[in-house]
Amino acid sequence: QRLAIMLSGRGSNMVALVDAIQMGALRELAEVAVVFSNNPDAPGLATAAALGCQTANLAPAGRKRADYDAAVVQLLREYELDYLVLAGYMRILSPVLVRAYAGRILNIHPADTHLHQGLHAYEWAFENKLPETKITVHLVNEGLDTGPVLAQRPVDLRGANTLSEVERRGLLVEHELYADTLVRLFRGQISPSTPASYPAAPPD
Ligand code: GRF
Repeated sequence: QRLAIMLSGRGSNMVALVDAIQMGALRELAEVAVVFSNNPDAPGLATAAALGCQTANLAPAGRKRADYDAAVVQLLREYELDYLVLAGYMRILSPVLVRAYAGRILNIHPADTHLHQGLHAYEWAFENKLPETKITVHLVNEGLDTGPVLAQRPVDLRGANTLSEVERRGLLVEHELYADTLVRLFRGQISPSTPASYPAAPPD
């Protein structure tokens, strides 16, 4: 499967996926066609290039969301992609992009998307002193973190006394779960489940 990994910042999930593709469980199942960012200065882009990945970026430059996403669709076309894999891609996708890759866009969310959507999921877990949070990999639809869930894995947060400890534990699980989920998806071992309804997203 030909993937675009889409990021806006650090890119630790991208690194985990590239590792799994280059020398792990995703070898022979996937290739990174491009690592794309909306942010030309994203540290993850430089990291991807250092790992030998093709990179591309396009800054929104004040364009309306739909216009920008139409330009992204245009740019991505040449890579003949099977899947878009969002890994810290900090933009809400407009229908023009979601429909261009319908059912073929994945995202990782650092909480159970039935309970929490949008930004600051680790802060939410930390502030609410949750004993556990659930990392979620889901398909992207036209809502914010409301697409069909592909996989979830719990993170034990007991005794995590700082936000950075919550994030550290969560990211370890994120990095494993994203690659594992892609393996199972590409082997035809998972089919998405659609929850009946979602609560309204809390204000950020
Ligand atoms: C991760 O926590 C991911 O779940 C969220 O954004 C963060 C990106 O981190 N969507 P990184 O850029 O992959 O290090």
